[in-house]
Amino acid sequence: MDAVRPVVDPAARVLYTGEGLDDAAVEALRAAGPLAVLEQWYAEAAADQRVTEPGAMVLATVDAAGDPDARTVLLKGMDADGLTFFTNLRSAKARHLEHRPRAALVLLWHAMFRQVRVRGPVSVVPREQAAAYFASRPRASQLGAWASRQSEPIGSRAELDAAVAAVTARFEGSDDVPLPPFWGGYRVHPVEVELWVGHADRLHDRVRFAAVDGVPAPLDDPAAWRVQRLQP
Ligand SMILES: Cc1cc2nc3c(=O)[nH]c(=O)nc-3n(C[C@H](O)[C@H](O)[C@H](O)COP(=O)(O)O)c2cc1C
Repeated sequence: MDAVRPVVDPAARVLYTGEGLDDAAVEALRAAGPLAVLEQWYAEAAADQRVTEPGAMVLATVDAAGDPDARTVLLKGMDADGLTFFTNLRSAKARHLEHRPRAALVLLWHAMFRQVRVRGPVSVVPREQAAAYFASRPRASQLGAWASRQSEPIGSRAELDAAVAAVTARFEGSDDVPLPPFWGGYRVHPVEVELWVGHADRLHDRVRFAAVDGVPAPLDDPAAWRVQRLQP
């Protein structure tokens, strides 16, 4: 096999200058618990003009053969129970989660030199909660959800446009577009949450919250989490 050909000039390194996590900061994280930290980091990312989509997170699943897969979804809810996203319930990711309801998430706020990793089991969001979220979406997004058989092949853009036209006609005159039976949400219930802050010379800060009992614990209960600093 050939030598690895660098994608960029390896000498042109980005200088990582994240706001660090000294030992006092780690103590503060321990006292606050994972939810407060996640909320604060998300709020800071959302307020940072350099971060275009603060809720973008990579969702990793495994398929029936045990092979990993990953794609980006949007974080739509965060509470003591976990992190929520919405999707098509017949998509590839949904099939993976039906078979193996466990996932990993990565939120990367590169401009801030911050990363969050989450691992844990996944549950389906109750229908009434999915319906409430769906009702809050713009009508065009609602129609798009109805029109797409996510992850299925389609012959042309024109076929997709025709599917949108068909659902637009179907719901013409009705004020509310209902929740499609094949659309909903998933909640990832963390057993691990890792915070990463980039530093010079690759000596990054990593702090991991691990649920004391090894099963999902309330993210707002600091006593339910063991906190450890990890080597970079
Ligand atoms: C920034 C970004 C946000 C996305 N958000 C979502 C989302 O919230 N839900 C979703 O189903 N797909 C979302 N997608 C599309 C997915 O990455 C993916 O293409 C799609 O869900 C099909 O994945 P699957 O075939 O593995 O099920 C997003 C893509 C990007 C780039």
